[in-house]
Amino acid sequence: MLAAGCAASDADETLGAVEQGAQPIDRLLIGKAAMYPADKSMRARLPVLDASMVERRKEAWAIVQKIVAPVTIASKSSSAPHAALARLPRFQTWYSRDDVLPMFDRLFRALPDADKKAHARFGEHAIAGVFPWNATMAPSLASYTEERRAARLRELATPAGLHSLGKDARVLMSPSYVGHVLRSYPEIAACQVPREQEDPPSATNFAPCLDGELPIDAAAVKMRWIAGSSPMPTYDTSPSSLAAKLAAGKFGDGDGHASPDENDIYTMQLTPDTSMRLAALHIMTKELRDWAWITLWWSSEPDTDFGADRPASLGSPWGHYKMCVVTSYEEKDMAARMDAADPSSWCSNPYLEQGEHAAKTSCIGCHQHGGTAETTESILAAPERFPRGGRTKVRKNFPADYAFTTSAGLDLAAEIRAKIDALTPW
Ligand code: HEC
Repeated sequence: MLAAGCAASDADETLGAVEQGAQPIDRLLIGKAAMYPADKSMRARLPVLDASMVERRKEAWAIVQKIVAPVTIASKSSSAPHAALARLPRFQTWYSRDDVLPMFDRLFRALPDADKKAHARFGEHAIAGVFPWNATMAPSLASYTEERRAARLRELATPAGLHSLGKDARVLMSPSYVGHVLRSYPEIAACQVPREQEDPPSATNFAPCLDGELPIDAAAVKMRWIAGSSPMPTYDTSPSSLAAKLAAGKFGDGDGHASPDENDIYTMQLTPDTSMRLAALHIMTKELRDWAWITLWWSSEPDTDFGADRPASLGSPWGHYKMCVVTSYEEKDMAARMDAADPSSWCSNPYLEQGEHAAKTSCIGCHQHGGTAETTESILAAPERFPRGGRTKVRKNFPADYAFTTSAGLDLAAEIRAKIDALTPW
C-alpha cells in the first residue's frame, strides 16, 4: 500500500496537471503528430490566387488533399488486422488543448526558479524534446495499465473505431503551430492588446502577442461533429438558395435531411453507442502570410456548385464535401463578387457559422481580431465598428497572428497565466 501510494505521488509530482483520462493513451497510440508539408512557393502566387477564383480553388483543393492525406500512426496493428487500419487523416494526428497544456506544464516546471520568475524563454532543444515526451508519457501515469491500453486498442479494430483516436476535439493544431505557442509563452502571458491602428512591431512581424508570426507550416482545423445515426440537416448552396441565405444573414436549420453512412461521411465511433459524423472542417494554414482559409461542408449533392471542381483523387468520403476559400479581405476576381457593390470576400460554412448574421462573413475578416477580447458574437453584433459582417479590414496589427486559440477559443493565454501563477515560487 505504502509503496503504491509513493509511486502515485511521484507520478503526480512529475506529470503535474496531466489529466489521467484516455487522452494520453490515445496520444501514445497516435504518436507524435504529423507535420504539415507547407508549399513554400505559395506566397509568391498570392496575386494570382487573389485575381482568379479558379486558381484559388485549385490551390485550396491541393491544401485539402494534404490535410486529409492518410498518415501512418505509432500504433502498429497489434490488434488491428490490416496495416491500412493504422493510418489517420493527417489533421487528426494534430494536437488539442489537452496535449498543449501538459507540454507547457512540463517545460515550465523544468525551468530553474529564477527563470520561472523572469518568464525566461524555453530552449529550442527543450521544446523539441517535449513532443516525444508527450507522445510516450502515458505509461508513466498512475492510472495507466496495460489492460487499459489493450482495451483501447480493441476499440480501434474497425475503421470508425480507429477514427475515434483523439476523440471529438473541436480544434487541432499542427506541430509547428504548437511549438510556436510554447516558444511564445512569455509574450502570450504578458500580452497587452494594441489599439487597432497601432503599427505592428516590424515589417516582418504583425503579431505583438507572439514571439513573431507563426511559422509557414503552422496549420489548424476546427470541426463540427454531429452525434447520432439519425438524419442530419443538409444545406442547399446553389446560387439562388445561397443568395437567399446571405440576404437573411443566416443559414438556418437546414433545407433537408440525410443519413449518410461511413462510406459517405467521415465517421468516428466515439463510444459503443455513439457515432459522430464530421459535418464540417475549417482549415487555416500559414502558407500565406494572412493565411489560406478553407472550409469543407458535407453535402448530399456533392458534385454541384462548391463541389463541381473537386479533384476525383480525393476519393471517399472526402468526395462528399463542398469547399470555399478566401485568401484576402477583398474579392479581386470581379466575376466572383456576389454583389457588384460589395468589395469584401466571402467564405462561410453552414454547419459552423450558425448564429445571427454569421452567414455573410469571411474567415479572414473575423480572424483579424484573434488574440483580442473580441468574440464571434461581439464582432457580428457591432456593424458600425466591424462593417460588412466583420469582413472589412480594420486592424493594422494582428496580436495573435489571426489565431483565436490564445483568446476566445481555447483560451490558452488564461490557462498559461494560471499555470505560471501556480508553479512560480514566491
Ligand atoms: C465571426 C467570426 C468568425 C468567422 C467568420 C470565422 N471564424 Fe474561425 N474562429 C472564430 C472564433 C471566435 C474561434 C475560436 C472559438 C472556437 O473555437 O469556436 C475560431 C476558431 C477557428 C479555428 C481554430 C483555431 C483558432 O484560431 O482558434 C479555425 C481553424 C478557424 N476558426 C477557421 C475558420 C475558417 C476557415 C473560417 C471561414 C470559413 C472561419 N474560421 C470563420 C471566429 C470566426
